[in-house]
Amino acid sequence: MARQPIIIDCDPGQDDALAILLALGSPDEIDVLAVTAVAGNVPLALTEINARKLVALAGRSDIPVYAGADRPLVQDLVTAEFVHGKTGLDGADLPNPSTPLAEGHAALAIIDMVRREPKGTVTLCPIGPLTNIALAMRLAPDIIPKIKAIVLMGGAISIGNITPAAEFNIYVDPHAADIVFRSGVPLVMHGLDVTHKALVTQERLEAIKAIGTEVGDAVYGLLTFYNIFDQAKGEGQGAPLHDPCAIAYVMFPDLFDGRDCHVTIDVSGGASMGRTLVDWRGRSEQPMNARVIDQIDADGFFSLLTDRLAALPHA
Ligand code: BDR
Ligand code: CA
Repeated sequence: MARQPIIIDCDPGQDDALAILLALGSPDEIDVLAVTAVAGNVPLALTEINARKLVALAGRSDIPVYAGADRPLVQDLVTAEFVHGKTGLDGADLPNPSTPLAEGHAALAIIDMVRREPKGTVTLCPIGPLTNIALAMRLAPDIIPKIKAIVLMGGAISIGNITPAAEFNIYVDPHAADIVFRSGVPLVMHGLDVTHKALVTQERLEAIKAIGTEVGDAVYGLLTFYNIFDQAKGEGQGAPLHDPCAIAYVMFPDLFDGRDCHVTIDVSGGASMGRTLVDWRGRSEQPMNARVIDQIDADGFFSLLTDRLAALPHA
């Protein structure tokens, strides 16, 4: 298969970090056009620096990093330092970025890149709140039919993680998610149902430590910190490694399984605000707008991840 051009829209976040490193460690399959940052796990001032630290760690400071929205479309920003730590990347002391931010707003950069590349080739991989993607769609609706697919992390068929009903990325900017899910672009949704089957167990963590490179050591530190929140909640086996699922899917969709469904976003403002209402049984008879993933070959996924981390430059 030809290399797939993707844009990673993210809010790093330790699991975002793993998604970026997986993509950059897979140059035969993936061509990362840019990394775009959005406010989410931590404020934008940190997510954009974190994104630049990560491309530097991967030895790929040639990849442009753009800063985008510093807040959701309508609501106030909600952050998740209680999971990711004060910096968003607690657990490893990453070197400072070696390049400045690319010029221009992330949403405008997304528009330019989609217009510039051949029609139907660019896949967007949003792994944070969908603010930048929704802004790009609103500013330039002409890009909508040009996007090949949106392979995202967000939502849940069943139980939420920030409220009983909602998953964090969708909850932070449900109005943006509503725009994206109604856009007509083919969507692949990796929600909590699948990511909670991709757990950072101690055995998987040790395999990453055994890589023995600067990247391996940094990831070991990041994921050891990332596990603390779930351990404290007594969710024993390890934290769900959400965001890299979307990147792995772009390369190896056979690692996953799911169902085509109609998905709507709850923007009603009540207790279920930000919930992804997944019509798993097709009761609404509405047209399907997303492939909703609920199964993963977790061992295959972690062995892919470990191999690709090991492929990144040695210090
Ligand atoms: C999502 O929320 C963030 O905390 C993670 O980075 C992931 O994208 C999981 O709900
Ligand atoms: Ca994220």
